[in-house]
Amino acid sequence: MSRVRTAVILAAGIGSRLRNIHNDKPKGFLQLGDQPIIEESIARLVFAGITEIIIVNGYQNHYYDELKKKYPFVKTIKNEDFETTGSMYSLWTANELIKNDFLLIESDLIYELNALQTLLNSTYKNAILLSGKTGAGDEVYVGVNDNRIVNMSKQIEDIKQLGGELVGVSKISFELYKKMNAFAEKVFDKKSNYHYEDCLTDLARDVEINYELIDDLAWIEIDDENHHQRAVNKIYPLIKKRDEELQLSKKVERNILLNPGPATTTDTVKYALVVEDICPRELEFGELVEGIRQDLVKVVHGEGTHEAVLFTSSGTGGVEACVTSVVPEDKAVLVINNGAYGKRIQQICEGYNIKQVKFDIPYGDPIDFNKLEQIIIDNKDQLSHIAFIHHETTVGILNPINKVSALAQKYDLEIIVDAMSSYAGIPIDVKKDNIHFLISSANKCIQGMAGLSFVICSRESLNKTANYKRRNFYFNLFDNYTFFTKSKQMQFTPPVQIFYALRQAINEYFIETETGRAKRYEDMYNVLREGLIKLGFKFLVKDEHHAKLLTAIIEPEDPKYDFNKMHDYLYERGFTIYPGKGAKVNTFRLSNIGQIYVEDIKRFLAALEEYLQNNEISNR
Ligand SMILES: Cc1ncc(COP(=O)(O)O)c(C=O)c1O
Repeated sequence: MSRVRTAVILAAGIGSRLRNIHNDKPKGFLQLGDQPIIEESIARLVFAGITEIIIVNGYQNHYYDELKKKYPFVKTIKNEDFETTGSMYSLWTANELIKNDFLLIESDLIYELNALQTLLNSTYKNAILLSGKTGAGDEVYVGVNDNRIVNMSKQIEDIKQLGGELVGVSKISFELYKKMNAFAEKVFDKKSNYHYEDCLTDLARDVEINYELIDDLAWIEIDDENHHQRAVNKIYPLIKKRDEELQLSKKVERNILLNPGPATTTDTVKYALVVEDICPRELEFGELVEGIRQDLVKVVHGEGTHEAVLFTSSGTGGVEACVTSVVPEDKAVLVINNGAYGKRIQQICEGYNIKQVKFDIPYGDPIDFNKLEQIIIDNKDQLSHIAFIHHETTVGILNPINKVSALAQKYDLEIIVDAMSSYAGIPIDVKKDNIHFLISSANKCIQGMAGLSFVICSRESLNKTANYKRRNFYFNLFDNYTFFTKSKQMQFTPPVQIFYALRQAINEYFIETETGRAKRYEDMYNVLREGLIKLGFKFLVKDEHHAKLLTAIIEPEDPKYDFNKMHDYLYERGFTIYPGKGAKVNTFRLSNIGQIYVEDIKRFLAALEEYLQNNEISNR
């Protein structure tokens, strides 16, 4: 049995009894905390490992449709007859989108995470969630027999053996869903106001539908002002508390990685690695990869024009794949080198005998664009591409894409951008900046696990390479792309579990949002910089050229300073720092990417100060 990864939220209703409270918005847009309850539900579902959310809307549907812009894993479909039909009609409406087992949830529910976990962990294929007595008014009682549900009713007298109260969160197998639809289609003519609970009851005689009971579950369906009051005063605070406790209980010991990737990941990304075994040639896996491909493109706003090609490799593999696949045999690539990763592109060219023009700049210095233009002019006839690093992680400098791109356009060249450690950490727009090829990997600012690299390619530029003489095999960009798009299979064996972790990481990126993540990173940088200045440190790169994702710090001249000892002291306290690399002065490096927070940076600064003081290291 595969893990359930789809959720269907029924959200078509009008909620007329709540109009005073939420001004005609749909019920899911009621707000009890920082966000509407529907967005809290989405975040909870993603936390529980759901990767596809289908919302059936109706009343004021545009509110839900807007959510799709923020969360690419959300799909919506409208029940056009929402005013006259019941919830089963809404569920039936979604049949063109529902292809798998799913969790079914009502949009006006608030519930604790444990509800989802219990159903997802349930060994039953079909499980209706029940709670103990709530006294909420409006309860639906569920009659049971031998682990199976028998009937449901608002009148307790109708129930022979009480199992509990219906919560409104259920796990439905695709098989049961098809039976529900077939049954409902016969009922709709006579009774369009038919609800899914009634359909489950009608089928329960012939089909085994089980239940899971959580006696003291914190939940409430908010249908009227009384419910709303009860939610605000009692249930919502209880849910918050319980969810925090559950998340804490599952915590994996946390190390604060201040090395520039692999970065600290969320526990949910770590847990996403534990999945059922699946042959990667199965369509189910192909669809996972296809979804990831599309969303990797969305992160940099390349929908419609760009394609993602994935490789099983560290980031360098993606760079190698790109450079060795897209530069034509008779042309040269201009490689800008102001750090070890620019140098690495030059080394790749040397390894494959790709013609190149080198532009070497001392590590830590910004690009001189007049010089760059002169080099282009001097080599115009032989050049086809400019390759450079966006965030040169060796030193923390940001090479501005727009300026390189403007020159490339002026001289009709394509650009190859190594955005390994900036993708998803700094907003990038491949269309606005006219980026032909952009490379990154799963384990940096997108916050997945190491083992995957990807190249986001302009489809037009990629297609141009179709008949280029091959210099590579495993790493050919066009061949990997066409193999996947034709077969929905990766050309070579993929790291299955790493894909599931990346799926989770991408969803969490969209939950945090592009600006949210960039701001969290920048806030950490500001606190780090301030703190380091207070401790007397100086930096290699000027603030105006800084990517604000990694800081190269000039090492103290005090003979008592020893990087390795400082590293070990901090490592024992949960902080991993990184040595410098090839800069014109000695440095060590601290990055502020991954699932870490300003509070972690403050704790780190305190530990660093303690180390310097204990060892009487002067930094002035
Ligand atoms: C800008 C840049 N390019 C390339 C790489 C190489 O990536 P990997 O070590 O995953 O091969 C890195 C790694 O940190 C990087 O920061």
